[in-house]
Order: sequence, then C-alpha cells, then structure tokens
Amino acid sequence: MIETVTELTALRARVTAWKRAGLRVGFVPTMGNLHAGHFSLVELARRHADRVVASVFVNPTQFGPDEDFERYPRTAQADVAGLQAAGCDLAWLPSVGQMYPFGAANAVRMRVPGITDVLDGAHRPGHFDGVVTVVSRLFNQVQPDVAAFGRKDYQQLAVIRYLVRDLAFPVELLPADIVREPDGLAMSSRNQYLSPEERAVAPTIRRALLGMRASAEAGTPRAAVEAQARVMLEAAGFAVDYAVVRDRLLAEPDDASGERVALVAARLGPTRLIDNLEFTA
Ligand code: PAJ
Repeated sequence: MIETVTELTALRARVTAWKRAGLRVGFVPTMGNLHAGHFSLVELARRHADRVVASVFVNPTQFGPDEDFERYPRTAQADVAGLQAAGCDLAWLPSVGQMYPFGAANAVRMRVPGITDVLDGAHRPGHFDGVVTVVSRLFNQVQPDVAAFGRKDYQQLAVIRYLVRDLAFPVELLPADIVREPDGLAMSSRNQYLSPEERAVAPTIRRALLGMRASAEAGTPRAAVEAQARVMLEAAGFAVDYAVVRDRLLAEPDDASGERVALVAARLGPTRLIDNLEFTA
C-alpha cells in the first residue's frame, strides 16, 4: 500500500528507516497530473532501487508570470492511485510552505549558468532557476540514491546533470526514454489543454523531428534542416519558439558528423509543446 506524506518530518522518518535497513531509495520528482510517461519513470526507478518515492508539487518558482501555474491541472487523488499501481512506495505531497518555509519569494535561489541561456532558458526566463531551486530541495528532503528524469525535457535533464555534478549531490541520475501516444505525440500534462482540432495537429511536431533527422542524415546543411522544420510547423498552425539541431550539450554544431539532438518548442494557441529526437548524423 502506498503511503502519502505531506510533512517533512514524516518523510524523513520513513526514508531514515529505509536507509538504516540498508535499502536503496529511488526518486521521481513530478508536478502531478500523472500519465504513462511519469509512470515509466517510477518503473525505471523501481528497477534500480528497493523503495521508490515520487513527489507531486506544482512548483511556483519555475513558472513565469504569464504562464500556467494557476491553471496547471491538480489531480492528487488520481496521481496517488496511479503511483501505487506503478509500484511507488511513498508519495511526497509537500505544501508550498513545506517546500519554501520563508515563502517562494524569499527562497534561496539556485542558478545553473551557460546551458540555461539557450532554448527554453531563453524563451522562459528564470524557468530553470526555479527547476534547480526545487530539485535541490527535493534531493535534500528525500535523499535518494537514484533519481529518474525524462528525456522529454532534454534541456532540463542536462541542467540537472550539471547541478548534480557541480554540487556533488550523491545521486545517480536515471534518464528515461520519451513515452508517446500512438500517433507519436509525446505525452504531456499540457496535452489536455488542446482543443480536438489542435490535438489532431499536435503530432506534426514528431513528424518535423523525424524529417529533421532524415535531412540531417542525408547531409542537408543544418540551417536548411531547421528552416524546413519551421516551415512545416508554421504551415500546420504552430507558432515556433525553436526548431533546431544541436550537439548533445546543446551547442551549435558545425556540419561535420556527430551526436545530435533535434529539438522543437512550438505553441498551438496558448499551449506550448516540446519534444526532441536524438540521433547520429
Ligand atoms: P513534470 O513535467 O511533471 O515531469 C516530471 C518528469 O516526467 C520529468 O523528468 C519529465 O521529463 C518526465 N516526463 C514527462 N513527460 C514524459 C514523457 N512523455 N516521457 C518520459 N518522461 C516524461 O519536469 C517536471 O515535472 C518539473 O520540472 C520537476 C522536475 C518535477 C521540477 O519541478
């Protein structure tokens, strides 16, 4: 039976007891409204740990002033039921006060330099500061041995890797593959904002990524690969934040071959969707 805790003291007591018993603790941080993508992270953590903790916390410090913090779907009961079915032992559901004892505005803020200046970091100023601010806290609260993060949020994973290495968090990261709908759309809590018409168009992102991989593999110059993807997305009705090919550390590669990732962030009406595809060209 899964246990739900909302007080830090209760979380600490449980995790301390597990550690005393020599058990490895796995961790899956989430913002809730869970879907099969999140549950795959729980299953991955389960394979690398004896006990799994998942957090559900809609983190105010990672949303911009005009973003969807207020309307982000909050579905705690269904989330806990799904976590139990996925094999999670403990659901950590902190209040904003438990997470930010001096209030979110007075929180000690973290910042990862460099890699957060581009792509989502450039389009969502302060977003990754909020992510690393909350993930540092979550690591201190849960003290996991391993923690699972999805490749869906490619840049977030890169930022968390930097954080863990730079601050020497004793946590092993487990990257998880992207879970998709049958038509290729990457699962996301934000997909439910889409109207039926928008939902029908949304898988164009996946098709654009596959097209970018095919052209890059065929030797098309990067600027042309990116322009083709942008045209395809705009023709389908997206407002494109970026459609780019980068090296695996998100730097601009030259046209020599190597490890690549194609990344797209694009908006349909008010809904912003992201996806990516790793390949070698
Ligand atoms: P959230 O968007 O809820 O995502 C939680 C985790 O699930 C992230 O690691 C994300 O990459 C992963 N995930 C989401 N959709 C996925 C999919 N379709 N396939 C595989 N993994 C997927 O990311 C956050 O929350 C927050 O920024 C958080 C790290 C919890 C900090 O607040």
